[in-house]
Amino acid sequence: MTWQATILTLFPGMFPGPLGQSLAGRALEDGLWSLDLRDLRDYGLGRHRTVDDTPFGGGAGMVMRPDVVSAAIRDVAAAGRPVIYPTPRGRLLRQDDVRRLTGGPGVVVLCGRYEGVDERVLEACAVEQVSIGDYVLSGGEMAALVLLDSCVRLIPGVMGSDASGTEESFSDGLLEYPHYTKPASWEGRDVPDILLSGHHAAIASWRQTESETATRVRRPDLWAAYRRRTGQDTSDPVSHAADPDRLH
Ligand code: ADE
Repeated sequence: MTWQATILTLFPGMFPGPLGQSLAGRALEDGLWSLDLRDLRDYGLGRHRTVDDTPFGGGAGMVMRPDVVSAAIRDVAAAGRPVIYPTPRGRLLRQDDVRRLTGGPGVVVLCGRYEGVDERVLEACAVEQVSIGDYVLSGGEMAALVLLDSCVRLIPGVMGSDASGTEESFSDGLLEYPHYTKPASWEGRDVPDILLSGHHAAIASWRQTESETATRVRRPDLWAAYRRRTGQDTSDPVSHAADPDRLH
């Protein structure tokens, strides 16, 4: 069955945007995924199709109304698809979330503008709040594009054979090793000799070390998780106790 993305937005013109190009665009044309755009304005109230109002308790900005947003969500046949609200208040999106989402029937993404969406509709409609990083965008649309890109590339047949089995960075919880191509010498910088040696086992070992070093230096959080997972660090009993598989 085709992986289906429904986007609820006040700015439908922002889609498919970059997802209409390159691999995702080709896959969309080929029917490997489908994009269903809904303009939240169509669910707005009154002559002005109002979708937002001032926040209770005061403060700057406008909040999207729960009655308008719920009408849009309920109008979509979600049929087992999670409803996701991109927001900097959400849980950080990670590659294992992306894998889970791609493995299902698709997603419904609610894009917020203004200060946000009334909290009650998020509770009532079991909306999953997801952040794409610790910075603030002007709305959920760009985050929705990021989320969709990360999912669509994992749909079987979207990428060539390159990425099908693997997922580069994060497949084993480490950052990728560095890449090099021709020319072997460029502006006084040479490709590491080992890569020209033809010794496949030595190259694999060099790449593993480079991956580990990059992860340790740049992402101590991923490094700690990797060390725990691979049994190299048993110093944190709390994380083991928190792993439900270890209770049995
Ligand atoms: N909307 C605004 N900022 C965002 C972020 N960092 N992640 C997801 N959605 C957002």
